Amino acid sequence: MASYEYETHEYDVVVVGAGGAGLRATLGMAEQGLRTACVTKVFPTRSHTVAAQGGIAASLSNMGPDNWQWHMYDTVKGSDWLGDMDAQEYMVREAPKAVYELEHYGVPFSRTEEGKIYQRPFGGHTTEFGDGPAVQRTCAAADRTGHAILHTLYGQSLKNNAEFYVEYFAIDLIMSEDGQCQGVVCWKLDDGTMHVFNAKMVVLATGGYGRAYFSATSAHTCTGDGGGMVARAGLALQDMEFVQFHPTGIYGSGCLITEGARGEGGYLTNSEGERFMERYAPQYKDLAPRDYVSRSMTMEIREGRGVGKDGDHIHLNLSHLPAEALAERLPGITESAKIFAGVDLTKEPIPVIPTVHYNMGGIPTNYWGEVMNPTAKDPNAVVPGLMAVGEAGCASVHGANRLGSNSLIDLVVFGRAAAIRAGKVVDAEASNPVLNQAGIDAAFDRFDGLRHASGNVATAELRLEMQKTMQADAAVFRTSKTLTEGVEKMTAIAGKMDDLKVTDRSLVWNSDLMETLELANLMPNALATIHGAEARKESRGAHAHEDFSERDDKNWRVHTISRVDGASVELSHRPVVVKPLTTEADGGISLDKVAPRARTF
Ligand code: FUM
Repeated sequence: MASYEYETHEYDVVVVGAGGAGLRATLGMAEQGLRTACVTKVFPTRSHTVAAQGGIAASLSNMGPDNWQWHMYDTVKGSDWLGDMDAQEYMVREAPKAVYELEHYGVPFSRTEEGKIYQRPFGGHTTEFGDGPAVQRTCAAADRTGHAILHTLYGQSLKNNAEFYVEYFAIDLIMSEDGQCQGVVCWKLDDGTMHVFNAKMVVLATGGYGRAYFSATSAHTCTGDGGGMVARAGLALQDMEFVQFHPTGIYGSGCLITEGARGEGGYLTNSEGERFMERYAPQYKDLAPRDYVSRSMTMEIREGRGVGKDGDHIHLNLSHLPAEALAERLPGITESAKIFAGVDLTKEPIPVIPTVHYNMGGIPTNYWGEVMNPTAKDPNAVVPGLMAVGEAGCASVHGANRLGSNSLIDLVVFGRAAAIRAGKVVDAEASNPVLNQAGIDAAFDRFDGLRHASGNVATAELRLEMQKTMQADAAVFRTSKTLTEGVEKMTAIAGKMDDLKVTDRSLVWNSDLMETLELANLMPNALATIHGAEARKESRGAHAHEDFSERDDKNWRVHTISRVDGASVELSHRPVVVKPLTTEADGGISLDKVAPRARTF
């Protein structure tokens, strides 16, 4: 058994991750007087939310008529009827309140002439239950909305005495014998010391796992650490086959060009200069949802109408927009286009390609952020002491496809919901749990095993193999052949985790070891993704299966539940929540409006 000395810290709540969801949860917990720690592997304002550009959806009606029922309809249709309607209703109804709270905390939103929060159009957000024109629902701080939110929430959390443990890497959860989460074991990256956080509630806000793929808009830190820890604790992941490709990653570098660019009037063209989205989505054109636009772009490229010398990408045009509008509304992407594509977007189109951007799947939760145990006898059973919020969690509001700007609102609404719930279930007067020593020892054993790994495969080599396999075999379009091959290849790749070679054995700033721990987290996420995709014999949202090109509600309107153990994955299912929180009689949405139908735009 490995022996490491460690320091123990006791809190009511420990939040792991300091992106938008983690900080909103931290702030909400601290505001209620709960002793709250936020543990994060990067400095809070460097978390990946800082890269969120276009905005945050809420039906404020600042730019024209809007209401939560229209937002709900769009979210349900966007999810291709796989989202849970209780969570969807909760999110869209709480959205305006959550945005005004942000405003009052100090987020510097862009403004209209009258001084209201500025809102722009985004894909899939409509009026009149999809019969009217696109709505301006996405509240923006120029094209740096995530940056503005993150800085504000961090400042407010400090003001409310939340304590931050910065550059601490979470190794594993501590679970009691009877399945309660009691805390988390961490490694402090800058001095090599070990830390055990004992908490009455652990909140996983660790973000997505975009780096399981070769080309992603996600930061290199997006390694699915929460999903990895949950899988090792024997808990479930949900709907992992649904991976969103953002239509406009910069060709080559993968950097994001916000959908706000199309919201402000930008449009896509093929090698013939044709605005091809008019053919695929006659009503909403370039403002159709992302899965739709990414598939249309891929079809254009496949059919020989891609641009560039290899005909393998598409053009995004903005040069027709007034230079002042670009400077005021899209300054960030003006800079990114110059730096990463060498393009002056006031004069030339930006070369773009669908790029992995977001994971709809994650750790299953109810709409209070409590982690569910979907294979327990009681289908509503939760894992005591454990919550998951933001991209790490799956509430599930986004179902098979997320609408742009529904991510920032998800982070804020569900981070806030977790804090509201913790205020009810965490007893600040009670003593902290007696920690399961065997769980702590097991975490150090695993850590030590990787630290001294002396096999034949370098971490970077195996990671690349995984990324290329996922990119090729679980892509925008999938077939039975690519998915079966993908499962075989990923099983073999995961098998090589036992043959890893780590060359640096030190404990201080050991990036070789940290990347190995991250790879160990990416792996179960990637395995669950490819297995879930191989099993789902239909097309829905971001899962476009060429051998099963129709949506099949009779057999497949179900959530995929995966449990990953080493290289093996066990799949089961859980019903989708098809009843909203309120009925039409209580002022809710009519069931008829959210009943499944053909999804056209
Ligand atoms: O395009 C964007 O600005 C990204 C927003 C989102 O993913 O919600």
